[in-house]
Amino acid sequence: MKRIAILTSGGDAPGMNAAIRAVTRKAIHEGMEVYGINYGYAGLVAGDIRKLDVADVGDKIQRGGTFLYSARYPEFATEKGQLKGIEQLKKFGIEGLVVIGGDGSYQGALALTKRGFPAVGLPGTIDNDIPGTDFTIGFDTAINTVLESVDRIRDTATSHVRTFIIEVMGRGAGDIALWAGVAGGADEIIIPEHEFDMKAVAQKIKEGRDRGKKHCLIILAEGVMGGNDFAEKLAEYGDFHARVTVLGHVVRGGSPSARDRVLASKFGSHAVELLKVGKGGLCIGIRDNEIVATDIVDTLENHKHKPDLSLYELNHEISF
Ligand code: ADP
Ligand code: F6P
Repeated sequence: MKRIAILTSGGDAPGMNAAIRAVTRKAIHEGMEVYGINYGYAGLVAGDIRKLDVADVGDKIQRGGTFLYSARYPEFATEKGQLKGIEQLKKFGIEGLVVIGGDGSYQGALALTKRGFPAVGLPGTIDNDIPGTDFTIGFDTAINTVLESVDRIRDTATSHVRTFIIEVMGRGAGDIALWAGVAGGADEIIIPEHEFDMKAVAQKIKEGRDRGKKHCLIILAEGVMGGNDFAEKLAEYGDFHARVTVLGHVVRGGSPSARDRVLASKFGSHAVELLKVGKGGLCIGIRDNEIVATDIVDTLENHKHKPDLSLYELNHEISF
């Protein structure tokens, strides 16, 4: 391929800019042309497309968010939206598309591929919930942002002998809660992928108190329930001086970590290598520390993301 395009879609994630930069620079290095599409699939359908040059991606690697902007655009799930998108791509002479986003965005890339237009997915979401990869762009930064807050909350929790419920994003996935929970020394990690017993949680807090423990930190994944609902249910088992902190979108912003920038650079470069030789319909990922490309149809239709539940067991064994 000689001319490719790139878009970012769905929830933004730190490191998306580093991925756009890598795709653009690698493609130019290989003698190809790159077009940037603004506002994800909404911009694709509207034809909000422009050529990217070397300088367009300068001074972007350290920035959070996505300079190509993002959008939620449900119309792209329709045949009409997808055909219009392909028409726009053809109008600009574009032969392949790189989509950086989460599971919804991947469905768009899958739909384009099934309609005969080769797309390559780069996993970009703080949730880490994409099949075909162990880690997504943005996850490392997000867990470090959560961790900074957890450490701060620990200070005040200890001073006042309080229990804190810290609700973190992740949509239906518990990866952010798991990783930040283990790293932050959480007393409990509550995730959708593992059942929990509120009575046992309350008992654990009481036992900690009896031993003279001053703080109690519970990291709650939003996919289980809201922090305030959790606090209300916990209160049925005793008064734990609970406070709730909902970290929310704070975790989506900020400068990407070194790890996310490197991951984004490797993913972007690999996507271009494949498109250059005419290979599309793929998902890029990292598995066991190797950059891989897997068939997009098989990956999305036959595989599901699973969190590393050994972290849950580990936390149970070392946090009491
Ligand atoms: P994320 O990519 O972060 O999971 P969304 O689920 O909002 O975020 O998906 C991002 C966008 O991907 C949607 O707004 C829509 O434009 C597109 N999309 C989502 N689901 C589909 C689908 N089934 N078919 C085609 N496009 C889709
Ligand atoms: O997918 C990323 C994510 O931040 C999820 O963790 C969260 O559930 C969702 O997006 C929030 O979406 P919005 O930004 O549309 O409120």
